[in-house]
Amino acid sequence: MRTKNSKITIHMVSSLDGFIAKKDGSVSWMHSKDNYEKGVELTEEYISKFLKSIDCYIMGSQTYERTIELGWPYGEVPVFVLTNRNLKSNKKSVHFLSGKLTEIINDKLKSKFENMWMVGGTMLTKEFLKLGLADEINITIIPTLLGDGTLFFDYIGKEIPLHLKDVTAFKDGMVEMVYGINKE
Ligand SMILES: NC(=O)c1ccc[n+]([C@@H]2O[C@H](COP(=O)([O-])OP(=O)(O)OC[C@H]3O[C@@H](n4cnc5c(N)ncnc54)[C@H](OP(=O)(O)O)[C@@H]3O)[C@@H](O)[C@H]2O)c1
Repeated sequence: MRTKNSKITIHMVSSLDGFIAKKDGSVSWMHSKDNYEKGVELTEEYISKFLKSIDCYIMGSQTYERTIELGWPYGEVPVFVLTNRNLKSNKKSVHFLSGKLTEIINDKLKSKFENMWMVGGTMLTKEFLKLGLADEINITIIPTLLGDGTLFFDYIGKEIPLHLKDVTAFKDGMVEMVYGINKE
C-alpha cells in the first residue's frame, strides 16, 4: 500500500568530484565559505521550513553511527535505521529495521509517511537505486574537490535516466540539484 503522495528522496552532500566522506572522517569540507553574489541566502527560516516538510528519515547503520558522533540533527522526527546488528538507541524516534528492503519500504513505511528522506550512505543509496525504490535524488554540491574518500554513487551497475526538477545556487557557493528518477 502507498499513501497518495508518498515519495522517497535520496539526499546527500557531495564534493564536486562525487565524494560524500573523507577517509579520515573529517567534515569541515562540508561547510562552504564561498561568496557567490547571485546566490540565494540560506537562512534559518529557509532551512526550518524545508525540514518541517520531511516526515521521516531512512539511513544505513554506518551513517547512523557517524551521525550520533557528530550530533543528532533530526530532532523528534522518526528515523529508520537499516541494520542486521542488534543496535539500541535511547531515542524514541529511532527504529532499527532489518529484512528485505523492498518490503520494508513498500509494506511498512509507504503507508505511513509521505515525504521520506534517505540520507545515506553509499551502500544504502546503491540498494535503493538498484531496487528502484527512490523517486528523487537531491544532491548538494560543495565547491571543493576531495580527491579521495567515499563515493556517493558506487558503481550502481544499471543505467538510470533522470530529469532535472530544480536547481538552486546559494550565496555560500553550494548548489542544490533535484533530479526525478524516471521509472519504467
Ligand atoms: N555527505 C553526506 O551527505 C553523507 C550522508 C550520509 C552518510 N555519509 C557518509 O557515508 C558513510 C557511510 O556510508 P556507508 O555506505 O559506509 O554505510 P551506510 O549505507 O550508511 O550503512 C550501511 C549499513 O547499513 C546496513 N544495511 C544496508 N542495507 C541493509 C538491509 N537491506 N538490511 C539491513 N541492514 C542493511 C548494514 O548495517 P549492519 O552492518 O549494521 O548490518 C550496512 O553495513 C559515512 O562515512 C558517512 O559519514 C555522508
